[in-house]
Amino acid sequence: MRNDIEEVLYTEEEIQAKVKELGDIISKEYEGRNPLLVCVLKGAFIFMADLFKNITIHSEVDFMAVSSYGASTKSSGVVKIIKDLDVPVEGRNVVIVEDIIDSGLTLSYLIDVLERRNANSISVVALFDKPGRRTVDLEPDWKGFTIPDAFVVGYGLDYAEKYRNLPFVGVLKPEIYTT
Ligand code: PRP
Ligand code: MN
Ligand code: MG
Repeated sequence: MRNDIEEVLYTEEEIQAKVKELGDIISKEYEGRNPLLVCVLKGAFIFMADLFKNITIHSEVDFMAVSSYGASTKSSGVVKIIKDLDVPVEGRNVVIVEDIIDSGLTLSYLIDVLERRNANSISVVALFDKPGRRTVDLEPDWKGFTIPDAFVVGYGLDYAEKYRNLPFVGVLKPEIYTT
């Protein structure tokens, strides 16, 4: 698996240090407000787990899975809920936890859904941001790293469901996805 990686962009240590920083920020920001952290499956589950361990205030987690309709229709902006939250978000201070923001379509859909359910507040923390690919005008409240428009995998990010278990983030060798 490691041989499929051309270049490591962020080491495990760099990621862990950044996740701790983000945990500190959220802990300060939400002190006394019992935030509900919403993990966007599947990509965000590893970031969520590490982030949550670095949050030092009372807080809760829930999980949501979404997918784009069809194969290559991501740009259509049509997203479908595969698994919904277990708890109502009305009146809650929601923090959406994403691994990466690309076009912004997944996130803009989610924000829309949670707004209609009358969350008290909605913010977004994303470990990685690819602003070069944005089609929706959307910025995370907090982000870990801004990354170039390369094919990155690891730390939750997949290619055809593989590589999520790499503890670092790297660029996939082109021969892996062009064959
Ligand atoms: C990836 C990633 C984000 C989304 C970002 O998820 O984890 O959720 O795409 O892309 P966008 O900004 O263009 O919407 P994906 O749909 O691959 O599902 P996964 O999390 O299960 O891998
Ligand atoms: Mn995802
Ligand atoms: Mg994916």
